Amino acid sequence: MPVLLSPPRNCQHQTILDWITRVSELCQPEHVYWCDGSQQEYDRLCQQMVEAGTFIRLNPEKRPNSFLARSHPDDVARVEDRTFICSRFEKDAGPTNNWMDPKEMRDKLTGLFQGSMRGRTMYVVPFSMGPIGSHISRIGIQLSDSPYVVVNMKIMTRMGSAVWDVLGQNGEFVPCLHSVGVPLNSGEIDAPWPCNHNQKYIVHFPEDREIWSYGSGYGGNALLGKKCLALRIASAMGRDEGWMAEHMLILGVESPQGEKTYVAAAFPSACGKTNFAMMIPPKGFEGWKIFTVGDDIAWIKPSPSGALHAINPEAGFFGVAPGTSYESNSMAMETCAKNTIFTNVGLTPDGDVWWEGMTDIPPEKLVDWTGQDWTPGCGRKAAHPNSRFTAPASQCPTIDPAWEDPDGVPIKAFIFGGRASQNQPLVYQSFNWGHGVYLAATLGSEKTAAAAGKTGDFRRDPMAMLPFCGYHMAEYFDHWLSMGRKLPEPPRIFRVNWFLKDEGGQFLWPGYGQNMRVLKWIVERAQGHGYGVETPIGWMPRYRDLDWTGLDYTHDQFNRLMTMDREAFKMQTVAHEQFFLTLKDKLPLDFLMEKELLVSRLWRSPAQIHPPK
Ligand code: OXD
Ligand code: MN
Repeated sequence: MPVLLSPPRNCQHQTILDWITRVSELCQPEHVYWCDGSQQEYDRLCQQMVEAGTFIRLNPEKRPNSFLARSHPDDVARVEDRTFICSRFEKDAGPTNNWMDPKEMRDKLTGLFQGSMRGRTMYVVPFSMGPIGSHISRIGIQLSDSPYVVVNMKIMTRMGSAVWDVLGQNGEFVPCLHSVGVPLNSGEIDAPWPCNHNQKYIVHFPEDREIWSYGSGYGGNALLGKKCLALRIASAMGRDEGWMAEHMLILGVESPQGEKTYVAAAFPSACGKTNFAMMIPPKGFEGWKIFTVGDDIAWIKPSPSGALHAINPEAGFFGVAPGTSYESNSMAMETCAKNTIFTNVGLTPDGDVWWEGMTDIPPEKLVDWTGQDWTPGCGRKAAHPNSRFTAPASQCPTIDPAWEDPDGVPIKAFIFGGRASQNQPLVYQSFNWGHGVYLAATLGSEKTAAAAGKTGDFRRDPMAMLPFCGYHMAEYFDHWLSMGRKLPEPPRIFRVNWFLKDEGGQFLWPGYGQNMRVLKWIVERAQGHGYGVETPIGWMPRYRDLDWTGLDYTHDQFNRLMTMDREAFKMQTVAHEQFFLTLKDKLPLDFLMEKELLVSRLWRSPAQIHPPK
């Protein structure tokens, strides 16, 4: 029988106590430990993992209170093909999700979890997604046999005893059960990174609001507050309750006159989302400030006055390390300067971390993410392409003063951007909400060399939510449309593309801080005082409508970013149609109309579409 350390006095929730008893009988851990979320507890668990070989303490002079973990090479990323939405009926999960009958799945998982925590401690992790007590926040309780998960959850969520007070005797919570799936027999030495090599299951029961994850200890598979709760389960909650859970960063733009505008932006992976959230305005934009509210997820709810207010449900950043540098994102580098957990990056001889792209000149030698000696010419990567830093959001120098406001921040514009080397302009604005939702739903991105599949292949990724929508994608589109109908003044919707290339494969747009020029136009439009012109595809800025102060960028260069070929655009509607066919049974009629309107506008347009001079 597991040793049940007694629950904290302020945990008075009988349903939770019963559930924990049932789970401990099923999983048979040696101990049950109730996390209080304190710094002492965090320090103790980190030290315990140093002793167990899971963590390496980094040089305190270089990275105070920071650690490096190396995962097993089999367990390095989210596993989309092992991720399931087990709604009661298959038609409710839709064709973009894996589905299994919930009863069958529960039986299967019950078998797997049987005795899965033997020889281990089961941690009870109470956490709030969003500021504790905010009316937009939600509570989850994760039961996990991984101390790595506990310390990451401490950074990524508001974790600890205060959650029991919010829950009281019968508050709502999302049960999240997690096991690495490696029971330990007595006397057996544990692996530094236990995970199950044969079976992995990341399972969501959207009607019951429940999550079960088995076999992996990594990232979104194991930190169940993030993709599982804050996106897949929350998207289903939002549909039922009239709010939105989105894969979006949130940032605030402050003009030199002190006007503050918040926007939320969705980009598929590998499109520079964290860089955009922490952008430093370029030369020529002195007096402009960018403030970061969140880098990955937004929960958005209509306020009583009809404005859309957003919170970042997370408390930390689980950022991709490679490519992050003082050049590309100095704010992210400052954020992970201390109190950070690094996973799968290189370890330098002086006890610091390194990854590809951090510095132009790599260290002469280091130990790579697999624990092998590494030198610059050895042919292997020092850091895994999906290596991460887990760092407290509060350490970000550009964190917004209102980032923990329980009422959230008012969103004036939504931005959707993919990676397209051609045929998607730098920026344009939708004509209205319905058209904007169409633009968001038809978002997609070219695959980069790091992703599976042929480089240049295009993955349709509606609202950047393809792997994260917890129900039928077409119903999700409908939810977006209906949210807009309820708002007296819906936010404006924009499409951007930072990744256009010339014939030689060179990027046409400098990106990074220069994206501020585009953002300024978006903010002006959203505030109702920016200029733009109507074209067949939407509202576009003319050269003179963007602020070029401090950058030598010619009208001709700008034209190359904004001139689109009519025939190529027409062909895109054929691809839209193909995608819509897969969702046909539930596709909103509005989309068929939007597509027809787009085709008829293109029909009458000149061969080259661009804003006038
Ligand atoms: C992430 C992702 O890890 O979107 O944030 O994959
Ligand atoms: Mn993400």
